[in-house]
Amino acid sequence: MNYTVVLPAAGSGKRMKANKNKLLLELFDKPIFLYTLEVFQQDPACEAIWLAVKEEERQIIDQYVTKYKITKVHGYADGGMERQDSVRACLEAIPPCGVVLVHDAARPFISQDVITRLVETAKACGAAIAAVPVKDTIKKADNGIITETVDRNALWMVQTPQAFTYDLILKAAKAAVEDGFLGTDEAMLVERLNHPVQIVESTYENVKMTTPEDLIYGKAILESQIQ
Ligand code: C5P
Repeated sequence: MNYTVVLPAAGSGKRMKANKNKLLLELFDKPIFLYTLEVFQQDPACEAIWLAVKEEERQIIDQYVTKYKITKVHGYADGGMERQDSVRACLEAIPPCGVVLVHDAARPFISQDVITRLVETAKACGAAIAAVPVKDTIKKADNGIITETVDRNALWMVQTPQAFTYDLILKAAKAAVEDGFLGTDEAMLVERLNHPVQIVESTYENVKMTTPEDLIYGKAILESQIQ
């Protein structure tokens, strides 16, 4: 089943403590976002890649796209203030298609197997998201005093990709703007429409490069892939 992937790539380097977009930081010999692009370039089911980028970074990103022969990049949309705005700009730019995958450009270690299962599940159910079971004990607290220990058997740590049928995610994104709703992932926008969202179990390696320690972990993952 073919799909189009939308990659929000217009963030900053604040939590990474970098003075530029963290996606431009290198893991060994190339910037983080190129690892992500290569996964989709190499997937025969991926028909088109669309990126949300900051206007001032479009040229540098496009130069890398050309240099590394990422031929599936079909276009760019202007990134917005919030991640949700960046994703919506891409969704509004892409031509209608069957399944759309939304994936953080900052998650370079997504596995092909998870992508395939997400696309198949979204085709069957409309909405599917990658997630892993919570490993730690989770507690709620008020002013530092525990108020509840949450049953972790029901808890998932949500990642991207998140896969949807095109009509559903476009409708959900438009409804969110109309209602002034800001979510932290695309699934939330679909959940608001009372549409079921199916979890697809992912891998713990699919970490988002967010803080400096993540770069150490990212390099270790790459080294383990070479061995
Ligand atoms: O900041 P965070 O890592 O959670 O962002 C997730 C993804 O969304 C990153 O790939 C980042 O570049 C992107 N993003 C964006 N537009 C924003 C904020 C984040 O495209 N305004």
